[in-house]
Amino acid sequence: MPTVEQNRANWTEHTWAGQGDEWSGLWGGTESLWWGSLLPRLHAFVPTETILEIAPGFGRATQYLKDLCQHLTVVDVTERCIDACKQRFSSSSNITYYVNDGKSLNMISDHSIDVVFSFDSLVHAEPDVIKAYLSQMRRILKPNGMGFIHHSNVGGIPPFIKKIPFIRRALDQGWRSEGMTARLFQRYCEQAELQCVGQEIINRITRYPLPHDCFSLFTLPYSPWARRYRAFTNLGFAYEAAYLAKQTRLYSKSSFRTEI
Ligand SMILES: C[S@@+](CC[C@H](N)C(=O)[O-])C[C@H]1O[C@@H](n2cnc3c(N)ncnc32)[C@H](O)[C@@H]1O
Repeated sequence: MPTVEQNRANWTEHTWAGQGDEWSGLWGGTESLWWGSLLPRLHAFVPTETILEIAPGFGRATQYLKDLCQHLTVVDVTERCIDACKQRFSSSSNITYYVNDGKSLNMISDHSIDVVFSFDSLVHAEPDVIKAYLSQMRRILKPNGMGFIHHSNVGGIPPFIKKIPFIRRALDQGWRSEGMTARLFQRYCEQAELQCVGQEIINRITRYPLPHDCFSLFTLPYSPWARRYRAFTNLGFAYEAAYLAKQTRLYSKSSFRTEI
C-alpha cells in the first residue's frame, strides 16, 4: 500500500482543484515552494539540456522545469494527469509526454537525460517502484547526469512512534509508503550501480519533527557530480516552508495580484 493501481485510481479521481497548488499551502503558494524550497536544492544542476520529470501530476513543478532545459520529458502513470499537462503546456514546444505503467522508462532513449526530477509523487510509491525506476537510471542518464527524487522514509520511523494516534493520523493522511526508507534508496542505488551522493530527511506533511520523507540525490560513478555520500536530517523543513509563506505575503508576484 499504496500500489501502482491504487495510485492510478486515486490520482484519476482526485479533484485537482488547484492543479496541484492545493498541496503548496504550507509555503503560501507554489511560487514560494519553487523559488524557496525546490530551486535552492536543484540550482547546481540547471539550466541543462534535458530533464525527465517522473510523475508531474497537473504540472506544478513542470511549469518551471520546462524553462530550465531545452527538452523536458514528463512521465506519469495517470492518463488524466498527462492529458492535463498537454493542455496546460500546449504553447510549449519542448515537452514530450508519456503515460507509463508506473515503473517503466522504456520510452526514454539511452544516455539522453541530464537531470531526473520527482517531487511530492514517489512518496506514494512502494519500494518495488523506486527500485524499478532506479534500475533504469544508469541506462537513461548521460555520463554527467544527476537525479533528485523525493520519496518516503516512513519505514525509517520507529514503530512505537508511528503508533501514537495523532502521528498515525498525520501519516495516514499523507498516504506515504510504509516500507520505503532512505537506507533502502541507498541500497537500490548500489544495486543499480549508481552513487547516492546526498540525502535530506525531512518533515513535510506535519510540523512535528517526524522524519517521514527524504530527498535523495544520485549520479553515475565517475560523473562530475560523484562525491562521498552526505546526509542531513532537516526536521525544520516544514518550518522553513511556514517562514517562506510569510515572505510570500510580502514579495511574491501573486501577492501583487491578489489581496491576501
Ligand atoms: C500528489 S500527485 C503530485 C503531482 C506533482 N508532482 C505535484 O507536485 O503537483 C502524485 C502524482 O504521482 C503520479 N504517480 C504516482 N505513482 C506513480 C508512478 N509509480 N509512476 C509515475 N507516476 C506516478 C500520480 O499519477 C500523480 O500525478
